[in-house]
Amino acid sequence: MTEQLVHVALGADSYDIHIGAHLSHGALISQAMQGKTHKVLIVTNETIAPLYLQALQEDLQAHGLTCATCILPDGEEFKNAESYLKIMTAAIEHQLDRGCALIALGGGVIGDLTGFAAATYQRGIAFFQVPTTLLAMVDSSVGGKTAINHPQGKNMIGAFYQPQAVLIDLEFLKTLPPRQIAAGMAEVIKYGAILDRAFFDYLQSKTNYGELDLAYVIKRCCELKAEVVAQDEKEHGLRALLNFGHTFGHAIEVGMGFGNFLHGEAVAIGMAVAAWISQESKFGLSAADCTALVDVLKRYNLPYAIPDVLSGRDFLAHMLHDKKVKDGHIRYIMLKALGQAAVTRDFANDTIVAYLDACPYRQHYADK
Ligand code: NAD
Ligand code: GLY
Repeated sequence: MTEQLVHVALGADSYDIHIGAHLSHGALISQAMQGKTHKVLIVTNETIAPLYLQALQEDLQAHGLTCATCILPDGEEFKNAESYLKIMTAAIEHQLDRGCALIALGGGVIGDLTGFAAATYQRGIAFFQVPTTLLAMVDSSVGGKTAINHPQGKNMIGAFYQPQAVLIDLEFLKTLPPRQIAAGMAEVIKYGAILDRAFFDYLQSKTNYGELDLAYVIKRCCELKAEVVAQDEKEHGLRALLNFGHTFGHAIEVGMGFGNFLHGEAVAIGMAVAAWISQESKFGLSAADCTALVDVLKRYNLPYAIPDVLSGRDFLAHMLHDKKVKDGHIRYIMLKALGQAAVTRDFANDTIVAYLDACPYRQHYADK
């Protein structure tokens, strides 16, 4: 496939997203660094390293770059201060200076960690996103949200810090387990649901993953995210729409114990619940569009029903801990129609609890 480009327009912090297969990472990274460095530190994890690290190193070395590596354990539970310090230690031991760069080779966990390390090492050095999961390709590698978790909250420590470039190579998806592909697909469906009815219709028109043109899907998501981020980098308004499904989703992730539901799976359920409340509360969404959203989630093997062990009150308790709660008012993203979302703080806590308890999408997850 021919390489495609999406530009993220952020003034002096603008950058390109390269989308293709068998990208020349070495050429693209050395070009972007414009001779400022001959040294990079690749950050990855124990699952991805045996699959892709050597090839990336050889490609970078062939373009005159010296590569140090930092290989972290795999898992959301390692997106923490200890891993962050390991990256710092590797950067110091390999004598990285301000002209050097970090490269995040991995999914959203590695991308968020490496981005935060780049934002803070010597007050900020360059970094590149080389996403290897669908979720990272369509969402986390773009837009500059970087973070680590605190034991008391997800993504509590972080910075907005943009990469020099994002290199999306579809070849990485060949080894990604189907459950992880589906989790990324939840974010893909999110873009259609909140911003682009035609894109939603495209996803709805396909009967399964085999029919999807993934290069088109990834490019469209990157375009939509780039447009939003260019208008509202620091999430003062528009960017909040990207959190559709996430407020309910985070409550499910926490309420069911981290790891039981993948982030994308919890977001999928959160989107179905938000759609149902959007319809039921007369926010605007029609019953037909609500059903269409749930059908698309099912088609791409995603869950859509609330785990039966979680009550409305359980949700509320978790949602009140969200970063976006102001004076006890929870921020929700609801749908006016498919392709048109809006932010609201107008739902009283008791009203949301009642909707959650009445929601017909509810099931027992035996194997979770
Ligand atoms: P992840 O990074 O944990 O990756 C999922 C799993 O797939 C891991 O086990 C990983 O080792 C494995 N893996 C990755 N690439 C692989 C490949 N090509 N082949 C085989 N296995 C592979 O999870 P994720 O879903 O990519 O990211 C979730 C994280 O992203 C969360 O921490 C979330 O907070 C964050 N996130 C950030 C943003 C943002 O804007 N910064 C947006 C959404 C999510
Ligand atoms: N993933 C939501 C955002 O980047 O704002």
